[in-house]
Amino acid sequence: MATYPSIPRHVAIIMDGNGRWAKERGRPRLDGHRSGAESVTEVLKGCIELGIDYLTLYAFSSENWSRPKAEVSALMTLLNQFLKSKLKDLDRQNIRLLCIGQLDRLPTKTRELIQRTVAHTANHAAMTLVLALSYGGREEIVAAARSLACDAAAGKINPADIDNPLFASRLQTADIPDPDLLIRTSGEMRVSNFLLWQISYAEMVIVKKYWPEFGREDLSEAVAEYQRRHRRFGAL
Ligand code: IPE
Ligand code: IPE
Ligand code: MG
Repeated sequence: MATYPSIPRHVAIIMDGNGRWAKERGRPRLDGHRSGAESVTEVLKGCIELGIDYLTLYAFSSENWSRPKAEVSALMTLLNQFLKSKLKDLDRQNIRLLCIGQLDRLPTKTRELIQRTVAHTANHAAMTLVLALSYGGREEIVAAARSLACDAAAGKINPADIDNPLFASRLQTADIPDPDLLIRTSGEMRVSNFLLWQISYAEMVIVKKYWPEFGREDLSEAVAEYQRRHRRFGAL
């Protein structure tokens, strides 16, 4: 049965191109990350206007830990600033914050700020912002497999009962619907270890612009492109 998409319920974004944006302007990479943080604010507003329920942003990947120390620590500082300064906005806009990823690898200060913001916004219902931090899709899948294997070894579950829903319930996104629309900026045609399980039927829109140039209009255009797609989910 064909499905004619309306507004995507869940939009996931690989926010790429901060460094190249800065380099083209003869500025340090950090300026690109700073400017990228402003795009986040813009896109959040756009999501509320469009009536999108979930926005997941790929902010820092498992692989990004291998960047130079100075860049990693600058990104963590920026993340801390973002979390501190956004609390009021999230409150005012009634947005709930969730975080996925290997959060135990983050600096203590960042973890505390996350905990505080997540707890403070837990009952907000206008929309959910999911930050993927120190996130890797393979790591998430391996952790789910490990948790099922432990339960099977302890005799709590029967391996024959492991199916898609049970597996998905062990992912960090257990309570979040799968993304309908996956956007990547800066023109790269790859998923870079992002939500590997969850994007199995997401519509992909690749945007040429670098993330710091991406705004509300671009989000609307990506959604319009999504609405022109014909999602078949393997059926006819
Ligand atoms: C995306 O921009 C932000 C993060 C990955 C943290 P990049 O830093 O990857 O910028 P480019 O891809 O080098 O231009
Ligand atoms: C993906 O961007 C990760 C984030 C946007 C956080 P990268 O810049 O790290 O990905 P690659 O290295 O181009 O695949
Ligand atoms: Mg990049």
